[in-house]
Amino acid sequence: MGTPRLVLFDAYGTLFDVYSVSSTAEQIFPGHGARLSVLWRDKQIEYTRLRAMAGRYKPFWDITVDALQYSCEALKLDLTQERQRTLLNVYSSLAAYPENRAVLQNLKDRGVKTAILSNGNSEMLNSAVRSANFHLLLDAVLSVETLQTFKVHASVYQMGLDHFGLRASEALFVSSNCWDACGASWFGLPTLWVNRMNMPLDRLDVRPTATGCDLNAVVPLM
Ligand code: LAC
Repeated sequence: MGTPRLVLFDAYGTLFDVYSVSSTAEQIFPGHGARLSVLWRDKQIEYTRLRAMAGRYKPFWDITVDALQYSCEALKLDLTQERQRTLLNVYSSLAAYPENRAVLQNLKDRGVKTAILSNGNSEMLNSAVRSANFHLLLDAVLSVETLQTFKVHASVYQMGLDHFGLRASEALFVSSNCWDACGASWFGLPTLWVNRMNMPLDRLDVRPTATGCDLNAVVPLM
């Protein structure tokens, strides 16, 4: 792997902590916060895959709402309009992982280009970027919405390179979702899997180029 000129970041789970909704979920549904936040995330990703396979794109925000409603019904939790509003408000301004700002600043100081490359639609991504105050640290926020499909479709990873006019060998793709790091590796990008939860490697006949336990693992690769 050469020295990257561009680092492409996944958003949800990598820059923004999707499980930070669990404390609000726990307040609303005592005893169920953790299970709800995990099922919500799993269903959200499952729906992106089904929709991508069938060519039935729907913005990630709307899929997030569908997944929340499904998950509450499956767990027999009464999701009133107000509770839904509260949970979605938290989702639109998720906490960023604490080390991220310094890592993004480090890359900027080195003159490395940085961008988000995400399944999220632009509106929700821009809102998360604004609330984390990351907008001055990123060169682009790239959403699948222009392609109307989802990762791990190869066209999504290609879009990240096309935006900067670079080749795969000049970039690094960073995700805390193993399936996403594997998808980018299938595509041909050098990848870093930020294995925040100490999960096993997905069995997809491919291995991320590098693995770390938080975003600081990007820095030694520069
Ligand atoms: C994203 C999801 C998959 O940001 O985490 O693309």
